[in-house]
Amino acid sequence: MHIQLINLKRQYDSIKEEAEEKVLDVLLRGQYIMGENVNEFEKEFCEFLDIKHAISVANGTEALIIALKALGIGEGDEVITTPYTFFATSESISSVGAIPVFADVRRDTFNIDFSKIEEKITSKTKAIMPVHIFGQPCDMDEINEIAKIYGVYVIEDAAQAVGSEYKRRMVGTLSDIAAFSFFPTKNLGCAGDGGIIVTNNDKLATICKAFRVHGSGEDGQKAFNILNKTNKDIVIDNATANKIYNPMKYYNYLIGHNSRLDEIQAAILRVKLERLDKWNDKRRENAKYYNESLKGTNLITPFENEYVKHVYHLYILQSEHRRQIVSNLNDKGISIGIYYPIPLHLQKAHINLGYKKGDMPNAEYLSYRTFAIPMFAELTEEEKAYIVRHLKTI
Ligand SMILES: Cc1ncc(COP(=O)(O)O)c(C=O)c1O
Repeated sequence: MHIQLINLKRQYDSIKEEAEEKVLDVLLRGQYIMGENVNEFEKEFCEFLDIKHAISVANGTEALIIALKALGIGEGDEVITTPYTFFATSESISSVGAIPVFADVRRDTFNIDFSKIEEKITSKTKAIMPVHIFGQPCDMDEINEIAKIYGVYVIEDAAQAVGSEYKRRMVGTLSDIAAFSFFPTKNLGCAGDGGIIVTNNDKLATICKAFRVHGSGEDGQKAFNILNKTNKDIVIDNATANKIYNPMKYYNYLIGHNSRLDEIQAAILRVKLERLDKWNDKRRENAKYYNESLKGTNLITPFENEYVKHVYHLYILQSEHRRQIVSNLNDKGISIGIYYPIPLHLQKAHINLGYKKGDMPNAEYLSYRTFAIPMFAELTEEEKAYIVRHLKTI
């Protein structure tokens, strides 16, 4: 038997007819960027989360970068985040010229330890960026409380946690602004790259909309006004008038990005969004099966607080015998993933930040012990039983 960590082909087979009809429709209509599907998907995503604005972009990394820029975070500012995440989290902070400041994680949830945040706050701190790692929500009440005391923003990196809930509220709606990724392997993934920014803040939404299209057009003009605290008239005029303030495409107000979700991806995401709750419930059922079946072994199964809904983007086990287990499972045709082998404070790319081994003991401890076993909605009973049987034998 061969079991992949995530089987995208199987998921695609379950939506094939509807997805192909929608994609073909896009191809035939000839509008490929920012059309009806993108607009409708953004509305549907807002309804799904119960949030005011959703601004789709090219990928999750860009979603984080644009969110940071919209908050005015840049050169020399500090953003406190977790060292136990995918590189894009800290990369986005460095990309805008800011400094990622790491606070260690909790060993149970793998998320940033709120009790370690305050000691990292300085006069340069502008934001905290918690990451709901593997689909497990962070301690948002405590994080927001610290942010309020020190007057800093909170940006959720919700790339891995679409559909997860904290105290009955959707992850992504618990801070100033949040970013999701639609990378194909995510719980809601497109057939390529995609991402989205969400916020309840009208001004931030306008700035993000402007940044995703070269700071141009009416949103560019409005964003310029917000950022420069001016009130220049938004002139509705035609392009031939050559007015400097004109809400038309080739009038640029900010140095922005080319970062848009395309129509084909949006069409696929609309088909998948309808099924997301059902798929996440299946993941939770699979996790429950693993948790119960692995009781009594010396593997540490994932922790889930009673007030969260974890969506198990990845199902992570811990063992001090990881190397042996991984090699045995691979021999049996079971794919395994290591998330994350190098905590971010020790990545070469961040060498300039000056961290050394021992600075983040929990993140380092986890990076030597954790491994992911197959987790996706379409896993069969037979496959789950096969995985558990071999884990128990080892
Ligand atoms: C925690 C986290 N943040 C950010 C990203 C970046 O998303 P993308 O790959 O869509 O750029 C990812 C994606 O893997 C992620 O897992």
